[in-house]
Amino acid sequence: MIHQYDLVIVGAGLAGLRAAVETSNHAKVAVISKVFPTRSHSGAAQGGIAAALGNEEPDCIEWHIFDTVKGSDYLGDQDAIEMMIKEAPEVIYELEHMGVPFSRTKEGKIAQRQFGGHTKEVVDEKGNKKRVPVLRACYSADRTGHVILHTLYEQCVKNNVKFFSEFFITSLILENNICRGVIAINLKDTSIHIFHAKAVLFATGGYGRAYRVTSNAYANSGDGVAIAFRAGIPLEDMEFVQFHPTGLYPLGILVTEGARGEGGYLLNNNRERFMKNYAPTVMELAPRDMVTRSIQTEINEGRGINGKDYVHLDLTHLGREKLKERLPEITGFAKTYAGIDPAVEPIPILPTAHYSMGGIPTDLYGNVLANEKGKIIQGFFAAGECACISVHGANRLGTNSLLDAVVHGRRAGKTILKFLAEADFSPLPTDSGESDKEYINHLFSGTGTENADVIRKILKSEMTNKCGVFRNETDLKAALETVRTLKERFKNVNLSFKGKVFNTELMEIIETGNLLEFSEVIILGALERKECRGAHWRTDYEKRDDVNWLKHTFAFKTDKGIKLKYKPVTILNYQPQERKY
Ligand code: FUM
Repeated sequence: MIHQYDLVIVGAGLAGLRAAVETSNHAKVAVISKVFPTRSHSGAAQGGIAAALGNEEPDCIEWHIFDTVKGSDYLGDQDAIEMMIKEAPEVIYELEHMGVPFSRTKEGKIAQRQFGGHTKEVVDEKGNKKRVPVLRACYSADRTGHVILHTLYEQCVKNNVKFFSEFFITSLILENNICRGVIAINLKDTSIHIFHAKAVLFATGGYGRAYRVTSNAYANSGDGVAIAFRAGIPLEDMEFVQFHPTGLYPLGILVTEGARGEGGYLLNNNRERFMKNYAPTVMELAPRDMVTRSIQTEINEGRGINGKDYVHLDLTHLGREKLKERLPEITGFAKTYAGIDPAVEPIPILPTAHYSMGGIPTDLYGNVLANEKGKIIQGFFAAGECACISVHGANRLGTNSLLDAVVHGRRAGKTILKFLAEADFSPLPTDSGESDKEYINHLFSGTGTENADVIRKILKSEMTNKCGVFRNETDLKAALETVRTLKERFKNVNLSFKGKVFNTELMEIIETGNLLEFSEVIILGALERKECRGAHWRTDYEKRDDVNWLKHTFAFKTDKGIKLKYKPVTILNYQPQERKY
């Protein structure tokens, strides 16, 4: 079946829906999503969305820009960061006017809380300037992503956006540097659909499901990233995978940083607030990469609770009322998944794979880049976690992710409208969808012997154990070899269930292929990057190396394997300095 739309958006999280809101009054827009839109993973974001509104205390755009640059370990492109942070207040007020139910201050303004790495400048009693945590994260209790997602979905319904829910894309139609649409499977009956479009926006989310311990939803298998890479588009900075400090033990479900923003403590087995040894000025509100490494160090050095691989997040001193008002969601999670009442007992937590700083390279306006020199692909755009602009560099600050998704979804929408004003439908290649059909038929013919579930489990363990919070050359080489072997085994994968209605085994096989595709890129980028920067921490190198590594990685798929190239970082006002908190 062939569908025709001016714009096809793949992914119904914040970036995809914000772009749909921006474009749908002026163009025929379809949104394709593997899950029902309001089940998109943006809905799992808890603690807030950053903007220097200054509603609770003085704050300013410049401080937010500086914090983001410093938080990125100076790998973020400063032109992109400036643009995003300057737009932040405007997009928050837009969301408010669309109906997002933000929590409120006593005066009725949007309430704001502290988050790691977000600071203000103060002068201490000796007259020295220092930076201390600031109230910058706009929130709705600990359901911020959920309420924004639902509000944007309502706006899309109002604007008659056409949703194709539970459609799973398998490839991009790209010929002569012009994107012409996508191919997708309708999961309800396994039929193949061709979406012919003047413009395609990927807003397909992150790739945390490559890891065993992760805060990510099952859907976050990096499909868009893998499909773009297979289509010949490079991937940028894939080695930078963020581990959130506080995943609920043992699964890694997110326990918001907002809990520390509200005053929560991290304690080791000696009941010591160990962050004083790692980030004495900001303690638990250091940026994520630092808090994560601190927790992992406590665990590795035997100070985990009872020698196990978790520490405690203590919220008992906050009191039941505050937990009920500000942190109801995580209170429920702790009760449901750990049998813990956070009002009376500390929560067991461990670092969890959370966010993908790398992804499909774009320019500042959402155009996908064909190479490290800035050539663009006509009609192909990306926004949100699947894209790399790069505003997060080597380490994203908490609450800058929802901001990124909303700002860049909106901006990509504006770019696409300009593009559509001049664009026409480029003809579909005559063989569109043929190789996708062949592959599905091949799987249904049932000749394979390998089990995708087994392959996926090995991959996730390898990524967690050898390409996780701490990395070294020996482990990375071993992980690379394992992934390459798994890729060979995967060629012989078996589909055992042959039903055509919601064949989730088929979906998981395709997802496993995607995980393998980009995991090799993550490992190779990490192996080659011989320094410590942000979330990429090599125990065989002592520190950041700006002389050799102040640059973005671009990975290309070639007939001879993955080839890496590099692109300089854009530096404007802030020269790299040592990061101290
Ligand atoms: O901790 C959190 O609530 C997560 C927020 C984020 O990743 O930005």
